[in-house]
Amino acid sequence: MRQILKVQLNKEYNITISDEKFSVLKELIDSETKGQKRLFVVSKKVYKLYAEELELENENVLILNDGEKEKNFKNYIKIIEKAENIGLTRKDALIALGGGVVGDITGFAASTYMRGIDYIQIPTTLLSMVDSSVGGKTAIDLRNAKNLIGTFYQPKAVFININFLNTLDKNQFQSGLGEILKYAFIEDNCQYKHSLFLFEYLTLGCEKVFDKEPLTIMRVIEYCLNLKISVVTQDEKEAGLRKILNLGHTLAHALETISKYKKYTHGEAVVQGIFFVLKWAYNQEMISYSYFRLSHELLTKYGFKEESFKYTPEDLISIMRRDKKAADGKITFIVPCDKKRVKEVKLTEDDVFKMF
Ligand code: GLY
Repeated sequence: MRQILKVQLNKEYNITISDEKFSVLKELIDSETKGQKRLFVVSKKVYKLYAEELELENENVLILNDGEKEKNFKNYIKIIEKAENIGLTRKDALIALGGGVVGDITGFAASTYMRGIDYIQIPTTLLSMVDSSVGGKTAIDLRNAKNLIGTFYQPKAVFININFLNTLDKNQFQSGLGEILKYAFIEDNCQYKHSLFLFEYLTLGCEKVFDKEPLTIMRVIEYCLNLKISVVTQDEKEAGLRKILNLGHTLAHALETISKYKKYTHGEAVVQGIFFVLKWAYNQEMISYSYFRLSHELLTKYGFKEESFKYTPEDLISIMRRDKKAADGKITFIVPCDKKRVKEVKLTEDDVFKMF
């Protein structure tokens, strides 16, 4: 099975979603980079599992350790230096093969090397398949600030092969589910014409998703990406609508930072962020009790549980204050305001304190 989605921005590109053999993926990469010299930036885990099948031994490869802390300036320089050492020119390409960390840092390197060269995203985690590989956000982190340095820079192509999910560990699969669930809460804002009723689809299809039933997984990925493409096409640089994709992320980034990326996967942190704003929205009478309850049921069905944090509100707020979405002394949250609908609110620190 193969699905092709088109992204039409200044730079047009295709997203290929498939469950075909890796030999077909290799052919796709070769044909997309015909005549180009290329450097593969690969996650260590992925290299160990797939180097042979994808014949990476014969390629220029830079291997990165796994984990968010690898999305740093040192590794960025390593990619740039390797590109320079092997003689990549403006006509050549970087290829990101791994999860969101590899995709974000490789995209950032591609956007700055010689003022911008091609890059291809080959996401290998569910999270990067449904979110970070598409839409052109690239980044590296500073110690206490996730994604503080980055660019908007679209890839030349995205190749999603769901067979990578067969070796994805349970936690990472669960993390991807967190971002998928996020789309269920913003579906109506996305203005994508062909509604799948994601909230209901995920409620009914939970078992098939957990079984990684190929048709269901491909359908969910395709649909989430269609929602994302619709949003990004309307607002590539996050001047307005694109902010809805940050549902759950204000608290999530604070939780990830305070716990040094050790306690939560990204998706888990996002779901904690969604629980947090659901509670607030219900207390503010912005959503009905029945939607609040259905939302909890959906998140719980997918194995997520609302936590009481061991961190103080003061410590979390001090991180939120440094978030790039904060401005004029206010902290920005995306909050549910109706069924499958969210909106942006800017709150003072005192107001945020009262949310806990
Ligand atoms: N991950 C959110 C965005 O791409 O805007």
